[in-house]
Amino acid sequence: MLLPSRRGLQPLKLALTVAAYLSLAALLYCSFGPHIVLPRYGSPAAESSQPHPPQAKGHLVPLEAHIMSKCPDAKDCLRDLVLPAMQKVHEKVNFTLSFIGKPTENDGVACMHGPGECLGNIIELCAQLLYPDPKTFLGFTMCLTRDYQEIPQRELIEDCALEHAIDFDRLNECATKDNSAFGVKLLRESVRRTAEAGVTKSCTVRLDDQVYCIRDGGKWTDCPHGPGVNDLVVAISKLYSA
Ligand SMILES: *[C@@H]1O[C@H](CO)[C@@H](O)[C@H](O)[C@H]1NC(C)=O
Repeated sequence: MLLPSRRGLQPLKLALTVAAYLSLAALLYCSFGPHIVLPRYGSPAAESSQPHPPQAKGHLVPLEAHIMSKCPDAKDCLRDLVLPAMQKVHEKVNFTLSFIGKPTENDGVACMHGPGECLGNIIELCAQLLYPDPKTFLGFTMCLTRDYQEIPQRELIEDCALEHAIDFDRLNECATKDNSAFGVKLLRESVRRTAEAGVTKSCTVRLDDQVYCIRDGGKWTDCPHGPGVNDLVVAISKLYSA
């Protein structure tokens, strides 16, 4: 079993605690700084899955949030902007949750807040893959993000999965498949997508492939239209009917 228990000090948990100290300086501003490598284990097997299954309708407005699972700015950003906007106009939006990290030379990914964050990112990507309705995977991600310091403890993931009708075993299977190579590949693809968009800060919200607003260091920055939910809803509706 990959996920550490919430109770009892295990080697992995100890490692995560050490990682937490190492990345302490970077906790306030979640742009990319010091990092710890999560290696890619085992054979490079899974080559298939995309984060989005085929969807029926066209003209959906692309909305994307680029986050790190253990970043406090991701919590504010999802809670105060992305979720409330999605609650109002989800039917007009093609929503993608993407992650920020650094691909490593050994086919792994480095995450700013350590390997526990990489694992949290993979779990959130697996939720997006298995439950593509944003009501489910975004709700689940918000649930984890509320207690981001506890990511990736098993009990938190189980609680949030239960709350959002997600099968924990399927999630765990996705994250650990092929000796974790499958999950790491999902994360590498997501991290590459973020890098290609030129995004480095968690949380960056992009609308129609343009930066719409950034939450960084506990403040909204780079938000020419403001961080208001209604302004985002109006912008989405305009693009949808254009
Ligand atoms: C939604 O966005 C994803 C990622 O950009 C893309 O692969 C997919 O084709 C889009 N789906 C629709 C229906 O626009």
